[in-house]
Amino acid sequence: MGRLIVVSNRTPAPGERTQPAGGLTVGLYDAVQTRDSLWFGWSGEQREDALEHPVTEERVGNVTYATFDMTPRQYDRFYLNFSNGVLWPLCHYRTQLMRYTREDCEAYYEANAVFADRLVPLLKEDDTMWIHDYHLFPLGRMLRDRGVTGRIGFFLHIPFPPWSMARLLPQLRRLLEGLAGCDRIGVQTPEDAQNLRGCFAAYGLEADVEAVPIGIDPIRFRQQAIESAAGEEVEQIVDSLVGKRLIIGVDRLDYSKGLPERMRGYEMLLKNYPEYRGKVTFLQITPVSRTGVESYRLLKEELDGLVGTINGAYGTPDWVPIRYTTWPISRNVLAGLYRVSDVGYITPLRDGMNLVAKEFVAAQDSKDPGVLVLSRFAGAAPEMPEALQVNPLDAEGMADALHAALTMDVETRHEAWSALYGEVSRNTAGSWAKQFLDSLEASRP
Ligand code: F6P
Repeated sequence: MGRLIVVSNRTPAPGERTQPAGGLTVGLYDAVQTRDSLWFGWSGEQREDALEHPVTEERVGNVTYATFDMTPRQYDRFYLNFSNGVLWPLCHYRTQLMRYTREDCEAYYEANAVFADRLVPLLKEDDTMWIHDYHLFPLGRMLRDRGVTGRIGFFLHIPFPPWSMARLLPQLRRLLEGLAGCDRIGVQTPEDAQNLRGCFAAYGLEADVEAVPIGIDPIRFRQQAIESAAGEEVEQIVDSLVGKRLIIGVDRLDYSKGLPERMRGYEMLLKNYPEYRGKVTFLQITPVSRTGVESYRLLKEELDGLVGTINGAYGTPDWVPIRYTTWPISRNVLAGLYRVSDVGYITPLRDGMNLVAKEFVAAQDSKDPGVLVLSRFAGAAPEMPEALQVNPLDAEGMADALHAALTMDVETRHEAWSALYGEVSRNTAGSWAKQFLDSLEASRP
């Protein structure tokens, strides 16, 4: 078997190469450990002379991490403006937030060409390429154009919108022609697969698209949660709650996550069910993200204001209704916090998958499990029918679901949790990667 070449915009940072940090790196962790692999992408660093600067390689176990720096122009135009200011909002159905310019679009293709030019010299004939995510839609075709003959797969970690919406993107055909250079394309849900197929069909393009939902490593995460819940940091937080029920939300500070709507749902709980006042704490952990994009900065202002308003209106000198942080908390502590929480409150407006939902389930105590309140617009929703599913725009509905979660008896909680944990254990990170790679390697390049 040849090597596996993983290509993603960001690669795991040096400190994360023996312990995945979240998102895409969790899904790929096992796949790259179990065979000779190369993981290629941006180092996370910027420098003016990046184009003259060589690719840096580090070998850790079975994996060579090959990374390169970006110029500030590439960072601004490719990463911030086009990937996260055009493609991200489009793929999350927020077209009014798209800020398109031709110059940014060209910079996106130029940056993809830099990925291709820098990767090709590192490749061997029997390598299998696996490209990840929206930053790199055109890369498959660019590798083919440079003479790469091995199999090329692509996985999209975020949603894909229907043709009626996707066609708002100028040069959509060019983007899809690039993507069609891949032998196999994986997406998170059957809905995304249908949407993407519809777009290819609209241009008469042929492409092999299948839904392969990503999972986690539930056994490892569960173990981490058990150890962390008994550790000092989590115990201190539990002690500070003095008998209050705990609702937890964990997300990057991103408009796709439905954070203001989530706050309004919680506010409605305090309004419609006053018996919870002083008896419940909502802990929202929200590390800031992509602050170079205006819509993210505006969201932070909105959220800061909303949390202050709700805490001001309902809080008392000895009780803060919402505890809110905008800096990251270690994955280890998060695992323990999920375990000690009564409710996982995970309500994105649109999300590719949402691995937090799966991690929350894996972390629970089987004898006294917490309840998952989940948006029906998370990619995880079709796999998790036993969660209390909500529409984040319906504040009353969210409040009712929180109330139902907080009053659910232990048998009902256990029944729902067992079914959810069964699904999380069936469809893991390992089985996801295997399913995709098996079908890629069975395809004809
Ligand atoms: O959700 C898509 C994704 O690429 C995740 O895999 C990752 O955790 C997140 O976005 C990171 O975003 P950024 O690289 O812009 O910080």
